This record gives sequence, C-alpha cells and structure tokens, in this order.
Amino acid sequence: MKNSIKLLAIICTAVIFLTANMAMAQKAGGPWTIPAKYKAMKSTVKAGDPSIAGVGKETFNKHCKSCHGAKGLGDGPKAANLKTSTGNFSDAKFQAYSDGELYYMSYIGRDEMPNFEKKILNESDRWAVIGYIRTLKK
Ligand code: HEC
Repeated sequence: MKNSIKLLAIICTAVIFLTANMAMAQKAGGPWTIPAKYKAMKSTVKAGDPSIAGVGKETFNKHCKSCHGAKGLGDGPKAANLKTSTGNFSDAKFQAYSDGELYYMSYIGRDEMPNFEKKILNESDRWAVIGYIRTLKK
C-alpha cells in the first residue's frame, strides 16, 4: 500500500513536470502563407542606403527589439512570454526570404507577431527596417 502511494506520487510529479515543460517550450510558427501581391514587392531602399543605419535601426530598436532581440536572435526581454519562437534573423534560411516576404511577415504579421501597419506608416521607413534586418545576417 505504502509503495503504491509512493509510486503514485512519483507519477504525479512527473506528469506535472512534463506538462509544465511543454507549456513553456516555444513552438516554431511553421511556414507562412504569403499572398502573391506581397511576394512581388521589391524594396525601394538599396543595401548601404544611409536610412538603414538611421531610421531603419531606430525603428527596429523601438518596435522589434523587445521580442526579436538587438541582433534578431529571438532573445528580446518579451520573448520569454511568447508561445511561438520568433525565429533567428541571422541565419541563412531566414535571410533567403525575399523582400516582399519579409515585408508581409514584418508589417501584416500573424498571431503573436503583431501587425505594424498603423504603427510604422512611412513606406520607405518600412523598407529601411527590412534593410536593417538584412544587416543582421551572420
Ligand atoms: C510582441 C513580440 C514581437 C514584436 C514586438 C515583433 N515581433 Fe516579429 N515575430 C514575433 C513572433 C512571435 C514571430 C513568429 C510568428 C509565427 O511564426 O507565427 C515573429 C516573426 C517575425 C518574422 C518572421 C520570422 C521567421 O523566421 O519566419 C519577421 C520577419 C518579423 N517577425 C519581423 C518583425 C519586425 C520587423 C518587427 C518590428 C517592426 C517585429 N517583428 C516585432 C514577435 C514579435
């Protein structure tokens, strides 16, 4: 009898531990469905344009860094409270997204990735942020 109570206690602890762990683990968001209209978009801000290190970086630090981290590694202070992984802006797979795909994910968003259409209004500022994200490549 004593042994079975002990066993039950061990099983309960294990279940609590496992479910807590599962609840905390972030899951990858999975592939994005990006409308053709956005896919076809091309940046109006060329690599090396001064606006990238200027308004691009400033806007990123103001609106994106809290989740994505200063280098886009997904280690911003708010990231720990998210259920979805924010991705890693420095890796080659991320950098392979086209301008238009990055634009859609950055400004339209989905689920835990906020929509920024009303917060970042200027079109060339938006492209400067994308340009800045490009500089985070390793
Ligand atoms: C509140 C936290 C939060 C903020 C602030 C935020 N993001 Fe995100 N972002 C996320 C999350 C979570 C995901 C993953 C969403 C998913 O896959 O469903 C994401 C995904 C992305 C992706 C796609 C990453 C990939 O590998 O698929 C891009 C690009 C992106 N964000 C850009 C931005 C930009 C640019 C800003 C600032 C203008 C920004 N994010 C601000 C949480 C945030």
